[in-house]
Amino acid sequence: LTGEAFGEVLVRWQKRHGRQSLPWQHTGDAYKVWLSEVMLQQTQVTTVLGYYTRFLQAYPTVSDLAAAPEQDVMQLWAGLGYYTRARNLHACAKQVVARFDGQFPRTVSELESLPGIGQSTAGAIASLAYGVPAPILDGNVKRVFCRYYGIEGYPEQTTIKKTLWEIADANVPAQQPGVYNQALMDLGATCCVPRNPACSACPLMQSCVALGKGMVGLLPTPKPK
Ligand code: ADE
Repeated sequence: LTGEAFGEVLVRWQKRHGRQSLPWQHTGDAYKVWLSEVMLQQTQVTTVLGYYTRFLQAYPTVSDLAAAPEQDVMQLWAGLGYYTRARNLHACAKQVVARFDGQFPRTVSELESLPGIGQSTAGAIASLAYGVPAPILDGNVKRVFCRYYGIEGYPEQTTIKKTLWEIADANVPAQQPGVYNQALMDLGATCCVPRNPACSACPLMQSCVALGKGMVGLLPTPKPK
């Protein structure tokens, strides 16, 4: 499956089996979506939940965060690790206020121009907050695509990454792109997991190349030594 059919299967799966009650879901507030996506870049959902709630309590809007002393922001972030994320978070909030009048922009290219927002995070914010059909490609999604399309080679290698972005681009549906992107992330987090994936519960199992070839355990290809 590619394109529309792939998207439809995932959107249907998300509504029945995806995660529905994460606090940053079902909000049109790009600030909340952005905050959760930056926290989730390198940290698991269960750890993020508490930090996310405390951040929003301290800084209900992007303007509140922009106006906060750097020290306070770093203190609230303490324990989440990867502290460049916290410095970029603060810098990004300031730029959203200064350059975009306190409103997160809606286009991937404008979002990508902000500190700490790469192509995939930009796609997540645009689709989840604004319903823009933009692709995402984080670690979980790379694993899903490598297995489903039987792509061999280390996914961080330039040529492989280019192929994966092309697939990501070709599959984003025009309808409900946010639900679709959430489905990809949830499938990768709950079903198409690195070890012992639950293939029998996967909505894509009938046409998964890796499963058909007995290669689920071999893909994605590990980093070359
Ligand atoms: N990881 C990155 N973004 C996520 C999201 N929106 N939901 C769950 N896990 C994620």
